[in-house]
Amino acid sequence: MKAKTVYVCTNCDNQSSSWLGRCPSCGAWNTFTEETYENEQTAPEDKKSARRSLLVRASTDSEPQQFSDDVADYLRSDTGMNEFDRVLGGGLVEGSVVLISGEPGIGKSTLLLQICDALAESKKVMYVSGEESAAQISMRAKRLGISNKNIWLLTETDADKVLKHAEKLQPDVLIVDSIQTMYHTESATIPGSVTQIKESAAMFINKAKNDGTAVLFVGHVNKEGGIAGPKILEHMVDTVLYFEGENHHNFRLIRAIKNRFGSTNEIGVFEMTDKGLREVANPSEMLLADRPQNVSGNCAVCLIEGSRPLIAELQALTVETSFPSPRRMSTGLDYNRLALILAVLDKRLGLHFSGVDVYMNVIGGLKITETSSDAGMALALVSSVRNMPVPDDLMCIGEIGLSGEVRAVSRIEQRIREGARLGFCRIAIPYRNYQKLTDKPDGIEIIPLKTIFDMLPLMIKPNK
Ligand code: TYD
Ligand code: MG
Repeated sequence: MKAKTVYVCTNCDNQSSSWLGRCPSCGAWNTFTEETYENEQTAPEDKKSARRSLLVRASTDSEPQQFSDDVADYLRSDTGMNEFDRVLGGGLVEGSVVLISGEPGIGKSTLLLQICDALAESKKVMYVSGEESAAQISMRAKRLGISNKNIWLLTETDADKVLKHAEKLQPDVLIVDSIQTMYHTESATIPGSVTQIKESAAMFINKAKNDGTAVLFVGHVNKEGGIAGPKILEHMVDTVLYFEGENHHNFRLIRAIKNRFGSTNEIGVFEMTDKGLREVANPSEMLLADRPQNVSGNCAVCLIEGSRPLIAELQALTVETSFPSPRRMSTGLDYNRLALILAVLDKRLGLHFSGVDVYMNVIGGLKITETSSDAGMALALVSSVRNMPVPDDLMCIGEIGLSGEVRAVSRIEQRIREGARLGFCRIAIPYRNYQKLTDKPDGIEIIPLKTIFDMLPLMIKPNK
């Protein structure tokens, strides 16, 4: 029998008989991967029919129903971790399929093992690992203090065998660590290929939808940080969670990218300790724990992550450059946003950064995407370049426009309350927000900012 090779786009599933640099269907670059079918006859001739067969749910005899709002709410289980429940939208939904992805070593397996413990109090949990031996998992469970008899371990990579065991055991929760290690013998491609991942996932999803088993997949990430394997995997599951954080930092965030059962704005905050992941109910406090006092280049900002405000500390460092073109480095903040703020400070305040290297950092390995931290970023930069510290009890909020104006941000009351709670006595906010402010905590000075000029008096003059 002759083997057949096809090239499949991992982004949109398009197939081609030769390798292509750019997918003609979705326009993505470098997404074609080689798939070898052992038998020419089993290679899918018609990609549409192949795809259709995957997505058809097992039950095909459903009837159209009249729309009705008289439906029962989702059945949710408590995972024992409030932070994780919050990201899921209020607990693990029965019959739902969740994909948790993240960098290697970030703590995916640890988290799942920990939630097993709480779930197993009232449910039967099956933990399938294709990556670690049962002894390894048991050792880790012992270290984490997990000894629940309702957890069943299986080390297997054959998806058919896993499903057979699941049929016998009928678990309420099925954990597959990881979906990339699963293969399906009937599909003729090599394990780990796009088709294999897709087909194994489809089998588990069918199980979830038919039996009401909650299925949690661990997913690997590729070198660009996206979820490895076919894009269609993210469409097939109900919830996609992303585990992020720096490996050398203890701070870990779980973010929902897609959630059919809740909001995608929520984040869960954890800390990696020697006893596994610990929930951080009060992240602002933790982020501000080791704040340096009276040092130039530091400024506190307040972000809104999901429904929660989060105070972060920005640090800027400017030093005379020894390079032909000065360096710009940004960790946790958008590089383009930094360039924009530098350009505004140069043009509007006449501060020249052309002879200095600029380093910008967010404490705790946090990643900021919100523009409300612009004003804090600008203040940290000015503070560093002038060597004048920002007062420790000052927090700065606002978006900066190209003309140097400080623009309004959303949910200002919530940000002010969080700042006040954590001991900030002076809070600088955009003028437009200031005008509309109705509720102000006692003893807090609110400073309105119209333009970046208004930020200059906020800094402390050096003693000498
Ligand atoms: P792991 O869950 O294996 O990561 P993933 O499944 O995402 O690849 O966690 C790996 C890291 O977590 C490992 O480097 C060690 C660390 N760790 C702790 O610091 N404390 C602990 O209690 C455990 C179990 C792991
Ligand atoms: Mg793992």
